[in-house]
Amino acid sequence: MAPLDGRSTSGTDTSQIITDVLDKMYSESGRANPYPLYAQLRELGPVVTAPDGTVLISGYAEQRAFLQDHRLTKHPGRRLAAAGWPDWRDRPSLQLMFESMLFLNPPEHTRLRRLVSAAFTPARVERMRPVVERITADLLDALPGGTVNFVEDFALPMPIAVVAALLGVPSSDWAMFQSLARDWTLVLDDISPATVERADRAAVEMGECFTRLAKDRAKHPQDDMMSVIVAAQGDDKLTGRELVTMAALLLVAGFETSSGLLSKGLVALLRHPEQAARLRAEPDLAVSAAEELIRYDSPIQLVPNRTAEEDIEVAGVKLAARQPVIAVIGAGNRDPKVFSRPEELILDRQEAPPLSFGGGVHYCLGAPLARIEAQVALPAVLRKFPDIELAGTPVPRAGHVISGLLKLPVSL
Ligand code: HEM
Repeated sequence: MAPLDGRSTSGTDTSQIITDVLDKMYSESGRANPYPLYAQLRELGPVVTAPDGTVLISGYAEQRAFLQDHRLTKHPGRRLAAAGWPDWRDRPSLQLMFESMLFLNPPEHTRLRRLVSAAFTPARVERMRPVVERITADLLDALPGGTVNFVEDFALPMPIAVVAALLGVPSSDWAMFQSLARDWTLVLDDISPATVERADRAAVEMGECFTRLAKDRAKHPQDDMMSVIVAAQGDDKLTGRELVTMAALLLVAGFETSSGLLSKGLVALLRHPEQAARLRAEPDLAVSAAEELIRYDSPIQLVPNRTAEEDIEVAGVKLAARQPVIAVIGAGNRDPKVFSRPEELILDRQEAPPLSFGGGVHYCLGAPLARIEAQVALPAVLRKFPDIELAGTPVPRAGHVISGLLKLPVSL
């Protein structure tokens, strides 16, 4: 199967539909509800080519093949240079983000991934469950009542506190880390000079904080991930810069993503009161419910930025060297070939795993922790506030790669 080409194979109509879908996808209404747009895309086929040459993959099977194919690699430097940042390594925010493991290829990626995986073991993640429970209970107890913005009051501070606790950041610094991480994460969506300026200040400060923490843990190890990473020896030892970059990546990767899961997950539940009632009443439903909420409205909607260095074929799709490709995760998660009644929220669904955590060598390292956060927090919110309801229209955050909310007014 060759990608359906908007320019040559099917004339203006197809081109126009793809252009239209792409324009609307990034608009506020498209970010709030991209699913009708994805349905239009899917009608054209599981793989289509936009008039600018970008290949858009909406099919589940095709996305899995693409994410797992090692011939597709990441080259952030090229994109940054094309966007006017040839000297990106001189800017602290761009260097800290784009030199991180998330943007590296094997073998550099393999070494870093092995090292951090050795510290981020299933046992350590499971030991975080009571920590997640305590952070959840404390934040819910502190809610003022009446109408609150669930994003500011819960969905942002909760995952920051969890990753900060995992790393060993003292709780007195959690609020500061939230604002630093927020300013720095902006460069994932927007690399305008003003944004980079702001993100640079945050990246420098965050780097200093993690350097101090690493020095402290080298002298006084504790039961946290920073102590384990600092203690690694031999070939596996991280340099000081790698260590700071890794800690910052963990913070940023587990922050807006989990926040999106908690806030959009709550919206989905409040819009399906019968499903919410089941989750309140059946604690055993928490595991499959979290999985379904991760599928239903994924906190990562697009995985862009992988290219092949030469002409290749993946799942029958021909890709030219350096042709941009975007996996439209949110569309794959609703592929009717894989999920029955994909547009419905069915908390006890037992079908294929969602694509939301990506695939291949970059498969989300924090997926087990993100699952625990949703399994603990969402039932806890519903049980503590039996009358909770939407008190206004949720406002999406800017950007569509990481898809979350800025405002979620709820009355408790
Ligand atoms: C619901 C929440 C989350 C979602 C949807 C999510 C999704 C993803 C996705 C799609 C990727 C792959 C990106 C790519 O291939 O370019 C990824 C990578 C990653 N995630 Fe997550 N994530 C979540 C939470 C977390 C948490 C809580 C952590 C850590 C505390 C984390 C740490 C990472 C790291 C370190 C990577 C890079 C892995 C690598 O490059 O090898 N994530 N995540």
